[in-house]
Amino acid sequence: MIDFKTKQQEYIDLFNSFTEKELSRLASMSPRSSGSEFMTQAMSYSLIDSGKRIRPVLCLEFCRACGGDIHKALHFALAAEMIHTYSLIHDDLPCMDDDDYRRGRLSSHKKFGYANALLAGDSLLTLAFEEMTFADVESGKTVEAVNVLSGAAGFRGMVAGQVMDLENENSAADIDCVRFTDELKTGEMIRASAMLGCIAAGADAVKRKACEDYCGNIGLAFQIVDDILDVTGDFALLGKAVGSDDKSNKSTYVSLLGVEGAKKYADVLTASALEALVVFGEEGDFLRQLAVNLSDRKK
Ligand code: IPE
Ligand code: IPE
Ligand code: MG
Ligand code: MG
Ligand code: MG
Repeated sequence: MIDFKTKQQEYIDLFNSFTEKELSRLASMSPRSSGSEFMTQAMSYSLIDSGKRIRPVLCLEFCRACGGDIHKALHFALAAEMIHTYSLIHDDLPCMDDDDYRRGRLSSHKKFGYANALLAGDSLLTLAFEEMTFADVESGKTVEAVNVLSGAAGFRGMVAGQVMDLENENSAADIDCVRFTDELKTGEMIRASAMLGCIAAGADAVKRKACEDYCGNIGLAFQIVDDILDVTGDFALLGKAVGSDDKSNKSTYVSLLGVEGAKKYADVLTASALEALVVFGEEGDFLRQLAVNLSDRKK
């Protein structure tokens, strides 16, 4: 039996030290300008040593569970976290959720101003794809990974979900609409992050299908729990505001089903995620515990 918390922390520590080194390496590659130095500072502020690192952990663990070398997946994991971080910076902007705190700090626009936060997001989004080109894997794997991540992040994926999420403000969106919104805005980046690990490992079709099924379930459950914590959570633990969805009059699983109903549904999804892991046998133990842990989380 693996010690889940120890293993999770090992992944986070490995990822965080890689991220710090990689960001300073990337910053030192280009001729210095005050603009690039300022953007490095703004990117670091949002990216370094913060966040739960769920997406990199999924990437590294799927790589390991599919027989790959996790060190070869680190560049892909960082690319996914860069895109996720950009999505959070933009999500907090006054034109979107208008939230002042993120990851226990002032939101990027509160710290650096609206335009610079927009640009820090742009910098992270583009840097993510540059970062992928440094992965020590066959070039075909990098091409596939870029295809998967760009598809999941863009107008067919997370961005589309964010558009729908804004449409769900002050509207009577039904449960199917909320489901589709959540699958796109949150589920797609979770799925892609895990799939990058499968790609780095050269996983077979059966394992990739199991990964898709697992992530489809935990991705939706993840957003439902996020919406529950937006009502029941604690600012000090979450590091971001509670009551944000209510403030925007947003339709969510919680507004439609209530906290109890939403939690029950998250539990059903988590059970389905566990079923999807059968093909991994004991190698799926960490992912099993991760799914349960995410469903019961307080932050
Ligand atoms: C927050 O994601 C945005 C959602 C998709 C719900 P996380 O809860 O993973 O945020 P961090 O990365 O830990 O800050
Ligand atoms: C955001 O969902 C999903 C993203 C793509 C960033 P939320 O708006 O609920 O995320 P939080 O609660 O601000 O982290
Ligand atoms: Mg939002
Ligand atoms: Mg938000
Ligand atoms: Mg939220």
